[in-house]
Amino acid sequence: MRKKIVAGNWKMNKTMEEALILASEVVNMVKDEVSTEVTVIMGVPSLYLNTLKSYVEGVANVSLAAQNCHQKASGAFTGEISAPMLKSIGIEYVILGHSERRQYFGETNEQLAEKVNISLENGLSPIFCCGESLSEREAGGYLELVASQLTASLFHLSAEDFAKVVIAYEPIWAIGTGVTASSAQAQEVHAYLRQHIAGKYGQEVADNTSILYGGSCNEKNAQELFACADIDGGLIGGASLKSREFTTIAKSY
Ligand code: 13P
Repeated sequence: MRKKIVAGNWKMNKTMEEALILASEVVNMVKDEVSTEVTVIMGVPSLYLNTLKSYVEGVANVSLAAQNCHQKASGAFTGEISAPMLKSIGIEYVILGHSERRQYFGETNEQLAEKVNISLENGLSPIFCCGESLSEREAGGYLELVASQLTASLFHLSAEDFAKVVIAYEPIWAIGTGVTASSAQAQEVHAYLRQHIAGKYGQEVADNTSILYGGSCNEKNAQELFACADIDGGLIGGASLKSREFTTIAKSY
């Protein structure tokens, strides 16, 4: 069966000192309190990945994620970080296509397809983000739009490679706004995406794909969201910056 995953996306937050405290608190709380059936991931600034590796080593259900990588393996791309670099320090996951990357850094579906490819070539599992804006939701057709983001960036993959991808549905209108999608709104999109995946790769692959919800998910609403049939966990922004709240979310199954 598919994995239950609670992933934190720290975004551009925390100094090194703060990062060490947060990560060690999370690791200790998860070890003590969270079922090993739940995979906990911390998506931290790349600068901290190598140091934080020693914090998660030996804890079976805690891993680290980068928040982005470049689509090329190496070269003259000042300031960028590559998938082979992440591989070389033993990182397992990379968040790709977050709406903030699409919006502020102009990432396109085509570029994301390349990032997905290079990540998989380097043994990284992409946590692939998709989601609609408020105006796109209000215009209708948001289900097809979100599905088309998967088609454009993922559906060239073999079934074997697709099985390594985690999907995160993050409606843009719910990110950092305090307005969570209701469990019915989220479940509608998740079920549609799973059906869309089944149409391409078959029901078994679709049933094994973890689809996470992200957008103002917190300790109060996580339980109801995670109880939905097609919601397999969360991608958590603001609430992942507080160890107690994040752990409570991870315990919400
Ligand atoms: P918030 O949980 O702060 O709304 O952010 C969600 C998000 O963007 C996670 O990637």
